[in-house]
Amino acid sequence: MNPQPGSGASRAAGMLLATVLWTMAAPVSLAASPMGADYFSNITLTTQDGKNVRFYDDLLKGKSVAINIIYTSCTDECPLETARMSEVQRLLGPRMGRDIMFYSISIDPEHDTPAVLKDYAKKFGVGPGWLFLTGKKEDITALTKKLGLSRTSDLANRDGHASSLMLGHEPSGQWMRNSAVDNPRFLAASMNTFFGWPDLAAAPSYAQALPVDMGRAQMMFQSRCASCHTVGGGDKIGPDLQGVVQRRDPAWLSRFIREPEKVLAEGDATAVGLFRKYKQVRMPNLRLGDEEVASLVAYLDVGVKAPASRVAAEGHEAAHAHHQH
Ligand code: HEC
Repeated sequence: MNPQPGSGASRAAGMLLATVLWTMAAPVSLAASPMGADYFSNITLTTQDGKNVRFYDDLLKGKSVAINIIYTSCTDECPLETARMSEVQRLLGPRMGRDIMFYSISIDPEHDTPAVLKDYAKKFGVGPGWLFLTGKKEDITALTKKLGLSRTSDLANRDGHASSLMLGHEPSGQWMRNSAVDNPRFLAASMNTFFGWPDLAAAPSYAQALPVDMGRAQMMFQSRCASCHTVGGGDKIGPDLQGVVQRRDPAWLSRFIREPEKVLAEGDATAVGLFRKYKQVRMPNLRLGDEEVASLVAYLDVGVKAPASRVAAEGHEAAHAHHQH
């Protein structure tokens, strides 16, 4: 079905509502929203480059999109989410901006001005086809509700939010909710399937898919940490973790991996020093259990020899793109 301006668009919007209602497991207050052509009511948003855009006409109509909610001061999972999407962006390569657009909408528009968003995007190596958006607070609240992302926009409860990524194909009205903190290769593969892209090979990095025999700790490192860290491959968004077990006190290390924001809030000198150096992005609290932390520390201590070269190869180019101090 091809949306025409007017009734086609309104049907697409109606289907969108229906699809969202059917696919949402979580309670979202969509039922109260009116259906119709103005489902997304063309809210004006502003990009990280200060350009004003209309949500439906400019960002959605006729497009395939991946949309998530962020705020740049977040200490929870949003930095991981953005780092993940940055890896997905790399995996999708030339599809970015051509076959799909990424939109990261700030739910903290007072703080997240276009300039702040631009810095943030730069830190994560954001390229063409990915917009960071801000706007009027009430518009954004309404929009996130309509997108089925409203749970994540609950500021009162924001540090406990679930990181959702909505994939949408506007012409067919199909929408699907994903977790934005999934493994980037898995996310890229999900997009490939969802959007029905014929040519998997067009995402060049698929050739480098990880072998399945990875140890549990290495897998955890790949899925939870490698978006921001390498082991021996240089700084990425966070510091190179090669030798970190030797250079830090063990209790400090475990606690920092477990609850970095608390260590920083206490004014711990090491944490403050790291935070100053790796400004803009904070080490997120990834809600790891003791056992997970212990196995990661063991991995960083002894298990780094084999994976280091692969992690290093992946991290290397990003290290140059991200490292800016
Ligand atoms: C979104 C990016 C991001 C993710 C994901 C992330 N980190 Fe970090 N990490 C950082 C940043 C940035 C710092 C520097 C401290 C700061 O600014 O808060 C850091 C610092 C650290 C440090 C302290 C390094 C030192 O020199 O003492 C350790 C250890 C660490 N991270 C381990 C991990 C582990 C293990 C994981 C996965 C479970 C992980 N990080 C996931 C961004 C990240």
